[in-house]
Amino acid sequence: MRLLRSLAVAAAVGAWAVIVIGGYVSHTESGLGCGTDPLLCGPSSDSQAALIEGVHRIAGWVEGFVMLGLLVLVWRRYAVWRAVRDLTTLGFALVVLQAVLGMAAVVTELNPVVVTTHLAVATAFLAVTVLDAATILRGPPPSSVAPAMGAWRATGTE
Ligand code: HEM
Repeated sequence: MRLLRSLAVAAAVGAWAVIVIGGYVSHTESGLGCGTDPLLCGPSSDSQAALIEGVHRIAGWVEGFVMLGLLVLVWRRYAVWRAVRDLTTLGFALVVLQAVLGMAAVVTELNPVVVTTHLAVATAFLAVTVLDAATILRGPPPSSVAPAMGAWRATGTE
């Protein structure tokens, strides 16, 4: 349970942090700091903008790997906990979509519709990760509701 709690809290705090960094990217007009390459942050005429945009991208990818770790853990050990399984799966789908939208924002040179969709998905992603972490911190439902969970709940090891 400790690993599950840690990853869920890290995912929620990470989502919040990437959004704040994204806001900074936007307000400093650093969105094209890495040029129009959606993956690599190549040499740029404005190194400060490249740094800001690069940090946002790296934070986004780190967040993606935290979500991947949470997804694998939940599906391998806690799949019977339906609320957590569904929220985690939705959260992972949203972070993948968010990365695609982030790359699309760069390729389209910050098309307003793409950037606004990137913002819209970010807020939904934060809501899902916070809800997921809150559900996990609250603990599993009584074993009468989910008998299959009784075993690992009783051992207190997972
Ligand atoms: C967990 C993943 C991510 C989240 C939650 C996220 C969130 C955000 C947010 C909230 C903004 C500010 C939007 C606004 O103020 O309108 C932003 C901006 C931006 N993001 Fe992300 N982002 C993520 C990943 C990425 C990735 C992987 C890329 C690129 C490969 C990317 C590229 C951008 C760009 C270029 C902007 C600046 C848009 C502008 O200048 O207005 N993002 N992001």
